[in-house]
Amino acid sequence: MEVVIVDRPGDGAALVAGAIAALVALRDAPVLGLATGGTPQPVYDRLADDCSAGRLSLAGASAFLLDEYVGLPAGHPASYRQVIEREVVARTDLRSEAVHAPDVAGEERELPAACARYDDAIDAAGGVDLQLLGVGSDGHIGFNEPGSSLGSRTRLKTLTARTRADNARFFDGDPEAVPHHVVTQGIGTILAARHLVLLAWGDGKAEIVARLVEGPVSASVPASALQLHHHVTVIVDEPAASRLERAGYYRETWASKPAWQGI
Ligand code: PGA
Repeated sequence: MEVVIVDRPGDGAALVAGAIAALVALRDAPVLGLATGGTPQPVYDRLADDCSAGRLSLAGASAFLLDEYVGLPAGHPASYRQVIEREVVARTDLRSEAVHAPDVAGEERELPAACARYDDAIDAAGGVDLQLLGVGSDGHIGFNEPGSSLGSRTRLKTLTARTRADNARFFDGDPEAVPHHVVTQGIGTILAARHLVLLAWGDGKAEIVARLVEGPVSASVPASALQLHHHVTVIVDEPAASRLERAGYYRETWASKPAWQGI
């Protein structure tokens, strides 16, 4: 696991945009895994800048979202499909038809079949090349809350009260307006991507970053499952890195890394 400590989230976003540009140069039809929440926003801002300046094109890319709320009215502004339409599709040349989100439109009892189809669609696209991830303050990735099976596939999950409180800011500050249920890629689904890039900003994430990077692998900290993957980049700012015991080593390693290697 590579840990990169940056001065500002914008510096981390530049690294991710560079990795996406390298992927676009390498593959005809790159597959991106997109996350939502506040954390990836600097990356989406940077991708928008790079596309409008003609430095990057996502026209040949496709994308799969990590998760989606269940039970929101179609087109609700907080639905993750809408967030990605607004923050990525409207601001880059990524095609709306090339963006896939878990299908939550049917009856709840139809969801298991829709979840299986979503995993199949990821496989049929050749798998995700680069998966962006945030981390919840409780250690979730996607919406895999503590206790999630480390081998899980896309499925229905129930949010913890803590996550609903954390996400109330996207629902006019009302935790009761945050749905209880979501569909999320499983931890096993996420681990099948070829490159995982987890981002975390601010001291509110310092403790969970230390646990996911340096603590034991445990379903109690779903993000710790990243320790099992062969290509993981954790990009954090100084406040989010403040509880890492080996921060000095991570800085030394990054400072001496040949520039051509990228992340
Ligand atoms: P945040 O959420 O980016 O809004 O902090 C992270 C997450 O829940 O994965």
